[in-house]
Amino acid sequence: MQTRTLGTTGPQVSALGLGCMGMSALYGGADRAESIATVHAALEAGVTLLDTGDFYAMGHNEMLIGEALRTAPAALREQALTSVKFGALRSPDGEWAGYDGRPAAVKNFAAYSLQRLGVDHIDVYRIARLDPDVPIEETVGAISELIEKGYVRHVGLSEVGADIIRRAAATAPISDLQIEYSLISRGIEDSVLPTTRELGISITAYGVLSRGLISGHFTHDRQLAANDFRAHSPRFQGDNLRHNLDLVEALRKIAGQKGVSVAQIAIAWVLSRGEDIVPLVGARTRERLDESLGALDVTLDAADLAAIEQAVPADAAAGDRYPAPLMAHLGSK
Ligand SMILES: NC(=O)c1ccc[n+]([C@@H]2O[C@H](COP(=O)([O-])OP(=O)(O)OC[C@H]3O[C@@H](n4cnc5c(N)ncnc54)[C@H](OP(=O)(O)O)[C@@H]3O)[C@@H](O)[C@H]2O)c1
Repeated sequence: MQTRTLGTTGPQVSALGLGCMGMSALYGGADRAESIATVHAALEAGVTLLDTGDFYAMGHNEMLIGEALRTAPAALREQALTSVKFGALRSPDGEWAGYDGRPAAVKNFAAYSLQRLGVDHIDVYRIARLDPDVPIEETVGAISELIEKGYVRHVGLSEVGADIIRRAAATAPISDLQIEYSLISRGIEDSVLPTTRELGISITAYGVLSRGLISGHFTHDRQLAANDFRAHSPRFQGDNLRHNLDLVEALRKIAGQKGVSVAQIAIAWVLSRGEDIVPLVGARTRERLDESLGALDVTLDAADLAAIEQAVPADAAAGDRYPAPLMAHLGSK
């Protein structure tokens, strides 16, 4: 497995991480046994970074990862590094109720996550979205205290812009910023990426397949459950979806010429953007995981990259990456 290092102070991780969210939430139903088999297969293939959030189905995702770790051979369990997001507040009916980054809340969230994951420390801990009522210095300071006590190893960030990145980095060493980045979500290139590069912070990129939209497997007629994020995402609606799937067809031609899949081209493109970028792939079956891992063997030369840029120029996507009320929480568009 190829490896990359998170920032100047973070851990060495596999060049692809596994994002586990879809195994519990937001993309319709998932098969529990297949999800656990997928985590095991990822670890066997040398994937070390497992990403989750305590609010993904209210602890369900952490308990699933906990079970996968408990039932994995010891050597594989020991190589696993956990990246955990906290701070999003939920109601029993699943409604989202804002963010809490107060130091006491941070420690409380961490105590529960350690139990659910069944681990004695979390490798990278980050607030999912900035709490507008709590200075980032206080939230990061609380994670630093958890580091001093051995419960957490590294501070990460998620979906914040350049100013908050600078303030956080002035408070404690930051290993990585988790943020959406893909062929059709390139907002970080303007100010976020130059800032993380200046400060020696890596990017753990999510949505590299734009939640399946540019995977090559998504179709116009796919029926989505009402609780599937994509049923409400602007990019998956009507004319936007038609336009975006036309981009995928342009990409499919390039993938076909190289004898690889569309998903592999899309992941390989993110990998090609720099050693400081680690894509988190959201595979929730072993078949999709295998396909994703194949991207590590895809080399894109200058001619490939030019053809990809022509097929899918920056800003080519139709529709925002989140519904309008959720865009307001993001530090980068
Ligand atoms: N920090 C944040 O704000 C934030 C936000 C979102 C996610 N994340 C993290 O990032 C991780 C990855 O995000 P994501 O799941 O949205 O990313 P993604 O990889 O863009 O999308 C994953 C979805 O794409 C589809 N897909 C089709 N072919 C695939 C293939 N070969 N490999 C993988 N998936 C394929 C699957 O949907 P179907 O099975 O329905 O086809 C899968 O659920 C999440 O699991 C989560 O841990 C973080």
